[in-house]
Amino acid sequence: MIIAIDGPSGTGKSTVAKEVARRLGFTFFDTGAMYRSFAWFIVQKKCDPANEVEVVKSLSDFHYRIQNHPLGERRYFVGEQEVTQAIREAPISHVASQVAIYPQVRKSMVKIQREFGKSADAVFEGRDMGSVVFPNAELKIFLTARLEIRGERRFQELLKKFPDLAESLDMEQVQKEIAKRDETDQNRAVSPLKQASDAILIDTSDLTVSQVVSKILHLSSEITNCYPRKRFLYGFIYWLVRGYFKVFFRLKIHGLHHYRRGSGIIAANHNSNLDPNVVSISCPEEVHFLAKESLFSIPLLGKLIRNLNSHPVFRGAGDTQTFKTILQLLQQGYKVILFPEGKRSFDGNLQPIERGLSFLVQKSKATIFPVYVQGTFEAWPRLKKFPKPFGKIILAFGSPIEWEEFEGLEKKEAEKEITEKMGRAWAALKKWVEDGAQGTTP
Ligand code: DC
Repeated sequence: MIIAIDGPSGTGKSTVAKEVARRLGFTFFDTGAMYRSFAWFIVQKKCDPANEVEVVKSLSDFHYRIQNHPLGERRYFVGEQEVTQAIREAPISHVASQVAIYPQVRKSMVKIQREFGKSADAVFEGRDMGSVVFPNAELKIFLTARLEIRGERRFQELLKKFPDLAESLDMEQVQKEIAKRDETDQNRAVSPLKQASDAILIDTSDLTVSQVVSKILHLSSEITNCYPRKRFLYGFIYWLVRGYFKVFFRLKIHGLHHYRRGSGIIAANHNSNLDPNVVSISCPEEVHFLAKESLFSIPLLGKLIRNLNSHPVFRGAGDTQTFKTILQLLQQGYKVILFPEGKRSFDGNLQPIERGLSFLVQKSKATIFPVYVQGTFEAWPRLKKFPKPFGKIILAFGSPIEWEEFEGLEKKEAEKEITEKMGRAWAALKKWVEDGAQGTTP
């Protein structure tokens, strides 16, 4: 799936596109960085950006490489030289805009972008993603904002990136440069910056980054919810275990429309040793979970559960190591199943939520997908050695809890709010299930 995000500079495009990609577990591709890297190359070669013939000639020596760090950080290289920082400087912005008008330059860049788009689910950010490069993108967004707001944002960004330049930076000058770049980008003959006819326009002037991200995530889950293929082993066990619960426990799964692919915490109530299995095979994509470290040293089983995305929890290492593992998984765009009550219930009732959940949400900015499971306690309660052979299990996904709801709150307050909201979500799902599981889940 491709999400194309276009718009002029200062609309928050990069920040938004990066966050959308992270939340969906997609690759992020900043095409502006590509034009900037080429501009940097031109400047290094002392080639005149106004000389089209010279610029086009340089294309054959331009070797561009992106290094993607698993935690989301990107580094850009031209040949062996890292240019990540250098391409953000103002003179490079100007040259990038200048060389981006040449048809041969665009043709070369577009070719690489399309190649890249073939191999991955990605968020592409630029000026012509929806209109030229990916006319068939599943979701096209065009971001705008008022000029003075864009100027202010760029000014703040520059101040943050280059604090040494605080004295010489001038807001009016930054605004003028943006207006000039808009004009070049909008009026060039080839692929001018313009909204594709089927792109959705979002004016970000009075919205926070989180609000824009939420809007796009919402649109993406409305348009399509396709999940990456499961690996063979995972898929095989998934269907086997799913079949078992469907046949012997008449498993019913509700509320899947609330489910979204990519990064997030699946927060389920915990009644029984059956819960990790039931919850994981109810999710339509591969999910990750934690398991006791001792299980990993059992021959064969250890290897199998590792292959099924289990991660060891080390007793004695404290919570730090466990939290670190979960945070890394979330950063890499995975779903992690957690049982925020910490331990299995003795009576099948909901228990208090531990603080770990809110800590993780605040650190990772992850979405919580509340899940309520009913019937696993009856099937295999805590004090019984073996499960019953038959039973009835119901699992319900509730409305996602977005971390943006708690953004800006003081730490303690956020902790309280997150815990309470989670508790209310479970209570509502429990009631919905007990009332006969009719209609859509809350
Ligand atoms: O998004 P940005 O400011 O990093 O982009 C730098 C320049 O590259 C900008 O002036 C326009 C150009 N560009 C383009 O022409 N087409 C793209 N797809 C992306 C950027």
